[in-house]
Amino acid sequence: MHSTSASVFIDPDRCSACGACIRVCPSDILSLENSIARAAPDTNIALCLQCGHCMAACPESAIDIPALDPNLHDFATFTLDPAWVAPGSGLPTQDLARLICSRRSCRHYRQTPVEKEKLADLIKLAVFAPSGTNSQAWTFTCLSSRPEVLALGQSIKAFFKRLNKKAENVLLRKSLALVGAKTLDHYYTNYYASVKTAMEQMEKENRDRLFHGAPTLILIGSSPGASCPKEDAFLAAGNILLAAHTMGLGTCLIGYAVAAMAADRSIQKELGIPESETIHAAVALGYPDETFQRITGRKKPKIRFPGK
Ligand SMILES: Cc1cc2nc3c(=O)[nH]c(=O)nc-3n(C[C@H](O)[C@H](O)[C@H](O)COP(=O)(O)O)c2cc1C
Repeated sequence: MHSTSASVFIDPDRCSACGACIRVCPSDILSLENSIARAAPDTNIALCLQCGHCMAACPESAIDIPALDPNLHDFATFTLDPAWVAPGSGLPTQDLARLICSRRSCRHYRQTPVEKEKLADLIKLAVFAPSGTNSQAWTFTCLSSRPEVLALGQSIKAFFKRLNKKAENVLLRKSLALVGAKTLDHYYTNYYASVKTAMEQMEKENRDRLFHGAPTLILIGSSPGASCPKEDAFLAAGNILLAAHTMGLGTCLIGYAVAAMAADRSIQKELGIPESETIHAAVALGYPDETFQRITGRKKPKIRFPGK
């Protein structure tokens, strides 16, 4: 018989009462009762993050969390070795470092469509990122064909056209700034000119300055209820950027798309994204039509160790 709670199932026949699950539980909802690990009664179970720590730590495989989808381990485009990698063992840091340092934002793409299996695998990898209070409230909207990406581009272009027109109005800018609303003035100073040039290039040269000709776009959003939705989305995006590189894909985060969708909520409606969701990151991706010769440097970061 299972020791049950709303979210954690512990098989008492398997449990060896080693306490490993109790030690790693971030919410302290597990304890030993008659030499068997037990989850707290239902009154406290709302505390369970369903993070899977207990399940991962149990040497007897006695724990199950039904909410965790085991199929997320099944990747279509590669085989995962499911053995857990202990810190410092198994994976050479230099391989990961080479991947991290080799990823670049890609701004030239081939029109070869990205296989749906690869997109599905990327999203499976994305959700292994950490999330605030393990909310995992992220959503992924995949535009998997160039016409879909172009259609979104049109809506975003229309938004920036309207915004630039507004920003050209000196009186409006200055009077808004006078009452403390400085956003339009800030936009005019920092972005107006480059957005104007980009839009002219899009119109006159048919150059996609927004999505760089990418045939695919993944919009990462959040459902209501997440404690750190933006951070979660970017951590998920980070996994996608790195994994995509290993799959032969180039990627580029597109902040302009996110800004437009935040300011004009009708854009996400056109994509069928519910109003309750918010888009935090847009990842353009596709097979790259550019190559790089070397890993370059970065600006020197400011680092401090206040404790000497
Ligand atoms: C939040 C965010 C938004 C970005 N938005 C855009 C964008 O709209 N268009 C673009 O071409 N690149 C965009 N980038 C890519 C950055 O320009 C790029 O990461 C930076 O120049 C460093 O280059 P690298 O990614 O090749 O290392 C964005 C990056 C981040 C992190």
